Amino acid sequence: MLDDIRPVTWHDGAVRIIDQTALPARLTYLDLTSVDDLIAAIQRLAVRGAPVLGVAGAYGVALALSRGEHARIAALRAARPTAVNLAAGVDRACARIDEGFEAVLDEAHAVLDEDLTANRTLSALGADWLLTQFDRRPLRLLTHCNAGALATGGWGTALGVVRELHARGLVEVVYVDETRPLLQGARLTAWELARAGIPHRVQADSAAAGTIISGHVDAAIVGADRIAANGDTANKVGTLGIALACAHARAPFLVAAPTSTVDLDTPCGAAIHVELRAESEVLAPAAPAESRGHNPAFDVTPAALVSALTTERGVARIAEGELPSSLWSRAE
Ligand code: MRU
Repeated sequence: MLDDIRPVTWHDGAVRIIDQTALPARLTYLDLTSVDDLIAAIQRLAVRGAPVLGVAGAYGVALALSRGEHARIAALRAARPTAVNLAAGVDRACARIDEGFEAVLDEAHAVLDEDLTANRTLSALGADWLLTQFDRRPLRLLTHCNAGALATGGWGTALGVVRELHARGLVEVVYVDETRPLLQGARLTAWELARAGIPHRVQADSAAAGTIISGHVDAAIVGADRIAANGDTANKVGTLGIALACAHARAPFLVAAPTSTVDLDTPCGAAIHVELRAESEVLAPAAPAESRGHNPAFDVTPAALVSALTTERGVARIAEGELPSSLWSRAE
């Protein structure tokens, strides 16, 4: 079962996280009792994935208040720059500081609850949309990185759509890109799919384009770290190549994300700050000591390659020119 997976909660005055670096070998929890411990956990990817970073950021403000660590809130907000949810979660909680600790904690609980609800809705809407795109059943899907229960309040976005389709008996196989450099796909997505009993095959990231173009994939579904106002979408490095291959193969490329990941203040992908991580993550263990590394954590897929974006407010056909802002005029 995955319904019990809560990667970030508030527990007895601490921010409790699942240590995602220990999976799949061990499901262990860490109780973080200082903002700097939380920042370190975020930066070493013990807690990762845009929506859950929003939850962690909001609980982090509660932690800062309870520990008298207000001065570290700005550093928490900036701990990972690409995922808009982190700064947004911190800002939501900070807006309640004048009302006191309990109000801040309530706001953090609301960030978590809203994400859980949004995931369920966007997953069902995304599944419905995908099924309008072709007649073939059951579906052969591809996903990249981890956009599952571990990356959200619970349930998942891209993997939420997969789980929804599986519940309808419509998934033949999921190709899981292993994901460089920390194997979020091979370690985390594969673990979630195995727990849910969903057939899957882990493949090298560099296999993805070939798997798609050779006709083995009906659709790709990925999450997002930040979606700009024009629909350009930042997600785990390697996502862009999948979108290009899908365009060539005329396979739908579906982005699944809550509207909390849409950043209307960022006009286009060029304005998205792409996190550059330590060179050592890509150099180890094989490169010679003289080599330098290049380690962007994300890439930006142009809106023209995003067939659709599923959110809790509805599906926007981005490649056809529907803007993310159109979602705000929809009924909830
Ligand atoms: O570096 P990570 O593991 O935090 O990157 C995560 C991703 O790119 C996810 O696809 C994205 O945050 C969406 S998670 C629902």
